[in-house]
Amino acid sequence: MPMESVTDRRFDVVQADVVDTSETASRRSQVPGYLSQHYWWAYVHPKAVSFFERQWLINAILWGNYRRLKEATQAALGPDYGGRTLQVACAYGDFTPTLLTRVAPQGGRLDVIDVVPAQIHNLEAKLPPDAPLRTHVMDASRLDFPDGRFDRSVLFFLLHEQPEDVRRRTIAETLRVTKPGGKVVVMEYARPRWWSPWRLLMIPVLTVLEPFAIDMWRRPVVDFAPAGTRATEPKRFFAGLYQLVTLSRD
Ligand SMILES: C[S@@+](CC[C@H](N)C(=O)[O-])C[C@H]1O[C@@H](n2cnc3c(N)ncnc32)[C@H](O)[C@@H]1O
Repeated sequence: MPMESVTDRRFDVVQADVVDTSETASRRSQVPGYLSQHYWWAYVHPKAVSFFERQWLINAILWGNYRRLKEATQAALGPDYGGRTLQVACAYGDFTPTLLTRVAPQGGRLDVIDVVPAQIHNLEAKLPPDAPLRTHVMDASRLDFPDGRFDRSVLFFLLHEQPEDVRRRTIAETLRVTKPGGKVVVMEYARPRWWSPWRLLMIPVLTVLEPFAIDMWRRPVVDFAPAGTRATEPKRFFAGLYQLVTLSRD
């Protein structure tokens, strides 16, 4: 049985979409070293989900901007939500439930992947069983989907958690599985404006807790994408601490 088939309701679709062998299934199920080393406390520890799955806490981590950033990300992904949408990695809070309120009325379907099974189970627990959703335990840097499978994709605060080589592969893979011309919408950290108090404050926070995040301050998102990737001008939020960029390929 394919590893990403977490529940029976999703099994049929997984079979149709995914090239699966026992070898790829076992690779997908492994939590990457950077997650167990640097993010065990947020995603991997058995108590992580029950601690972090609180809307107010996730909002506080984003300095009160969660709703605004979520809405901006999903507005950039739309307005057309027909066909298939891919969310690369789960997110705490109501990001996916809100996305489904956009996808479902248009008869679309949402696929969500995450490399940590507990994150997928947590997501499923937040959603009604009849939601037009398929979940997959899968590594973002090795997506087991065919080229151009999705009409659009979203990366919501994933890239800053990844070492550069994994980040590059994640972007390349997400572009590969998104149709040519389809949007890959990225919400990420960025370097705050010079006058922002968050600039000084966030350096120790990110250095201690999120060691790869400062990369996103130093270079534009498109620098981590394959040659020829198109990118919109970043839209900045909260004195520049966050950025929204849409990538696409021909
Ligand atoms: C997308 S980020 C979102 C962070 C943000 N603080 C939030 O929850 O809203 C966190 C998720 O990324 C997942 N993740 C990290 N690296 C991954 C990878 N290589 N493949 C798939 N999922 C990954 C983690 O397991 C976690 O569920």
